[in-house]
Amino acid sequence: MVLSRLIMQTYILGIESSCDDTSAAVILDDVILSNVTASQDVHQKFGGVVPELASRAHQQNIIPVIETAIQKANIVKNQLSAIAFTRGPGLLGSLLVGTSFAKAFSLGLNRPLLEVDHLQAHILSHFIRNTDRTNPIPRFPFLCLTVSGGHTQFVLVRDYFVMEIIGQTIDDAAGEAFDKAAKIMGLPYPGGPLIDKLAQQGDPRRFTFAKPNIPGLDFSFSGLKTSFLYFIRDELKTDPDFIEKNKEDLAASIQSSIVDILMLKCKMAMDKIRAVHPMSLWPDIAIAGGVSANSGLRRALENARDKFGWNIFIPPIQYSTDNAAMIAIAGYFKFLKGEFGSQSATPYARSNGVKSKFIICSPVSQTFHHTQR
Ligand code: KG4
Ligand code: ZN
Repeated sequence: MVLSRLIMQTYILGIESSCDDTSAAVILDDVILSNVTASQDVHQKFGGVVPELASRAHQQNIIPVIETAIQKANIVKNQLSAIAFTRGPGLLGSLLVGTSFAKAFSLGLNRPLLEVDHLQAHILSHFIRNTDRTNPIPRFPFLCLTVSGGHTQFVLVRDYFVMEIIGQTIDDAAGEAFDKAAKIMGLPYPGGPLIDKLAQQGDPRRFTFAKPNIPGLDFSFSGLKTSFLYFIRDELKTDPDFIEKNKEDLAASIQSSIVDILMLKCKMAMDKIRAVHPMSLWPDIAIAGGVSANSGLRRALENARDKFGWNIFIPPIQYSTDNAAMIAIAGYFKFLKGEFGSQSATPYARSNGVKSKFIICSPVSQTFHHTQR
């Protein structure tokens, strides 16, 4: 059964609707044929995603996005072997649009459903192959830093669906830190990409902000945000044009503070893992999620590769921020396992709302059972 699935060509439709991007992708085995995303500008003027508006926009976008993805893949819908969709975590109203569509499409086509966890999918995007299948992929077990708008986590990835969270933020996510800093500077939502763009012309050492002192592999970004806020508030008292005059240096300085916090913990995590089980882990480290698009973080990881000899895995930009290609590849691995979804599956808003059986939150010392390579 498994062998016949491996031999046949598997076309899977991936559907992502967890936040404010409506995305659909078609994958042929592990190679992406199409990946179409409709972003929602409607939130910009509100300075953040408005859940009700997000679900309405998903309703408008979902059919044209899926039709385009199937057309671009140059297939007809009856060729699809299965329908993969994001079940959570995310905004419930948004998830419901993708989930309901996937269920109806699966019934109409008489094809199985594949339920995908959004965070696992970000990580599994590293297994998408180029057409010639020459791009390197991480080896299990490896460390993944997942940095998005809602999450900042270290995940020890033992297998496609055997993942352990070994550290995470205790307050804001890294993406939130970027977005909040941008908001303080008067930039529209989402501010992360705008900070990144401004930072390229700025001096990252011009301003310094309070760094957190959190033990172990956990993160905190709320103190940094407050430090940035108070600094700007004080400067504006003496010069109302302070932000405008210094926006490049401010962006570069806050970006480098966030990247430094992430990289310091990456070094700590890699050292800790290799000290506990020197033979069990390749020095493979991946980054995933929207903030992995950040040019400062990408550069810092490249420097760490040169300095510490890590094998680094940085996703292509189109697979960093939310996209359906990652849902399709995660669905493909579920398909190979024969792990099909159910018409009664309901979306979940938070990872720990429905205990995903693949993700176990536990302290680092308890999670490193020896893994044979
Ligand atoms: O993974 P993602 O697209 O959605 C979530 O699952 O949350 O991540 C979105 C986050 C936002 O906070 C956005 O500002 C941030 O990723 N982001 C960036 C960049 N591109 C997206 N942050 C910094 N630099 C970027 N280039
Ligand atoms: Zn995401």
